[in-house]
Amino acid sequence: MSETSVPLEAIGDCLQGVIPSWLATCSADGVPNVTLLSIVHYVDQERIALTRQFFNKTSTNLNANPQAQVLVADPTNADQYVMDLQFLHTETEGATFDAVASNLDAIASQTGMEGVFRLRGVDIHRVRRCVPVGETIRAVPVRGAGTRTLGSLEEYVRRLAACVDYAEATQVGLVALEDLFGLGHSILLLADQQSDALFAVASNGYGRSSAGAEVAIGVGVIGIAAQRRQVVCVASLARSRAMRDAINLSAREHGAESSAGEIPLPGLDGVESVAAIPLIVRNQLTGVLYLESDRAGAFGSGDERLLAVLGGHLVTALTILEQDQRESPSPPSAPLAGPPAGEATEIVYYQADDSVFAGGEYVIKGVPGRILWKLLNEYLANERTTFTNRELRLDERLGLPAGNDNLEARLLVLRKRLAGAGCGIELERVGRGRLALHLARPIRLSEVQTSGPMRAAHTQDAG
Ligand SMILES: Cc1cc2nc3c(=O)[nH]c(=O)nc-3n(C[C@H](O)[C@H](O)[C@H](O)COP(=O)(O)O)c2cc1C
Repeated sequence: MSETSVPLEAIGDCLQGVIPSWLATCSADGVPNVTLLSIVHYVDQERIALTRQFFNKTSTNLNANPQAQVLVADPTNADQYVMDLQFLHTETEGATFDAVASNLDAIASQTGMEGVFRLRGVDIHRVRRCVPVGETIRAVPVRGAGTRTLGSLEEYVRRLAACVDYAEATQVGLVALEDLFGLGHSILLLADQQSDALFAVASNGYGRSSAGAEVAIGVGVIGIAAQRRQVVCVASLARSRAMRDAINLSAREHGAESSAGEIPLPGLDGVESVAAIPLIVRNQLTGVLYLESDRAGAFGSGDERLLAVLGGHLVTALTILEQDQRESPSPPSAPLAGPPAGEATEIVYYQADDSVFAGGEYVIKGVPGRILWKLLNEYLANERTTFTNRELRLDERLGLPAGNDNLEARLLVLRKRLAGAGCGIELERVGRGRLALHLARPIRLSEVQTSGPMRAAHTQDAG
């Protein structure tokens, strides 16, 4: 780039796609063409990528004459910059293509527009010059911003390192995202390898708990980030929603709604931008950290690396705590507050999907449902109220996957669901690797066996 240029890093807010950009090209015989662009994607200090979906004249012109200009705008202060471009080539695979494609597919899935915006390629341009235009206040990189981020990162790492317990680390981690990085609305979801879904374990910044809410892998921003293992940032949901309305397609028609099942994922009223960060450990998808903001452009291309570091460190800390399978030295004495009293609560277990209902209200399903059912049966048969993680891991009927079984995460979801259901059943963590069951009222258990088509699936699933 020329010496008079504004560095691309200094205008990150212009490169989030909040305000559409104008691209000017020119035919070989000098006829100009101007077209609208949704996003100018930052590739590196000298290159940007433009998404080739509907380009027609633009592509013809670029092939004949590689010179172009793009006008970008900063949504925070309306500053505008013009970039002189030289078209280099079109990519149809690779890191830049995958990042842009995941982003577009996530927006499409979230807004019910799958298949509408087919990404034919990304046009890579060298930025020869970037200059402010009009009344623009020249942007300067904020001095010391990097140092501030490093300080916050250090504190984030320190807080997580001080955690001794899985549940504590989920909460400390999400609160630290808010305190230190202003990420005030976050949901941590973990992957359930058995059901091709993610389940919410903890959240921060919402009025209600999200524990147990499910999202299918491949659906919506969260599901696509998980499927593609790509950080997905959507800078302006309002524009995506407007585009959807304009072409009159609903998410419902395309079946692209979140498959939250019985427990809906909480959502921020007036959400403007979202980010989903896949959490990878030992090259395996472990979960997704999902962030929302009521501000357009809150998560931009420049933030992706920081978000990946934040999510990566959180999941590493959780994995270490999950794998600490030592138990507290001695079994605790039965911590019952008093014997269960009053009218019995009817608990029904449906073998078909391992769901458990208490007093007619849905509590939980899947592996945590099986765990709850085991604990309640053990209680009725042997009056047991204390259990260990180890015995749950060794009980093959529970069908926990070998290796990374996410048992701590599943128990955390179960504890939260029971606490929120108000059904008189409480599961308390009473030391490392130990649990205590508390019953406020007597229980009566009944099981609905599976005889239909789900039988085979269940038999296979439960091993
Ligand atoms: C807000 C907005 C954003 C757009 N973004 C893109 C884009 O990123 N890539 C693309 O190929 N077309 C995009 N389009 C569509 C093109 O602007 C339009 O199809 C144009 O006619 C391209 O044709 P041309 O190359 O012949 O000028 C967008 C349209 C609008 C209204």
